Amino acid sequence: MHLPNKLLLLLLMLLAGAVGCESADRSTEVEPAAPAEYIHPSFTLTIEDLHGITADIRPPQREAILQRPQVFLDLVDRALDLPFEYTVLVDKEYGLAADFVPAGLVSLNEYPTLKTARNDLSLMAAVMPKVLALDEAARQDGIELVYASTYRSYRYQQGLFATWVERLGQEQAERVSARPGHSQHQLGTVIDFSPISQVFSGTQDYAWLKANAHRFGFSLSYPYGKEDITGYDYESWHWRYIGHDGVRLQREFFEDLQQWYLEFLHYNRERLEQARRGSQ
Ligand code: DAL
Ligand code: ZN
Repeated sequence: MHLPNKLLLLLLMLLAGAVGCESADRSTEVEPAAPAEYIHPSFTLTIEDLHGITADIRPPQREAILQRPQVFLDLVDRALDLPFEYTVLVDKEYGLAADFVPAGLVSLNEYPTLKTARNDLSLMAAVMPKVLALDEAARQDGIELVYASTYRSYRYQQGLFATWVERLGQEQAERVSARPGHSQHQLGTVIDFSPISQVFSGTQDYAWLKANAHRFGFSLSYPYGKEDITGYDYESWHWRYIGHDGVRLQREFFEDLQQWYLEFLHYNRERLEQARRGSQ
């Protein structure tokens, strides 16, 4: 049966119209965005983003990061998952709440191989395997480390700081002791080795720690000649556990200064966490 010519024409016109409409619709579709050149599989960050994030830090740190962005972001990826106590910035400006107590404190009396200067010392249990490994490695090299001060509560630090003020006056006390809430000791991740005095910097113990402590995730918080940055006089005896990835970040990207590494994390944590895949 023949379709009348008119009807055929109408059908053809409708078809052409439909095709025309379709192409018109397509032209209004949003073009898929060109894939961003993300530099690490865990983060939606481009090299330009990293330029922005590092704009305010010292040039040697910035250059180190921009030279090896993947290695840097690999370490940051893992550092973001470390416990609060390993990564939080605690300094003269940023402090801990008076009631902050670290997770899972354990007495050093539980570890008979450790030589302690007093019997009321405690640290975070999670740090203890690292402490024992460090202690054993030192022993293998003929060094017997002595533990003199570890976790200190807010209240204890309050008394300690007041004692220093009495002894040295406010100005000098501020150089050697933290105000309550501002001591890293409140984190339960810090060890002061004996003797707690400038004498320690001349000991074999210190030489050993300086050469080896980083292998166990420990970092010297207040190095020599950095008071303008850390806020404290040189403390060769004060070592904080910041984890292996933290130590690598400090050494490889932040001029081997704990303060700079922790400040970077402090100011950029939110941005880095937002740029982490799967975080939304
Ligand atoms: N001596 C260090 C700064 C403290 O009191 O935590
Ligand atoms: Zn200390």
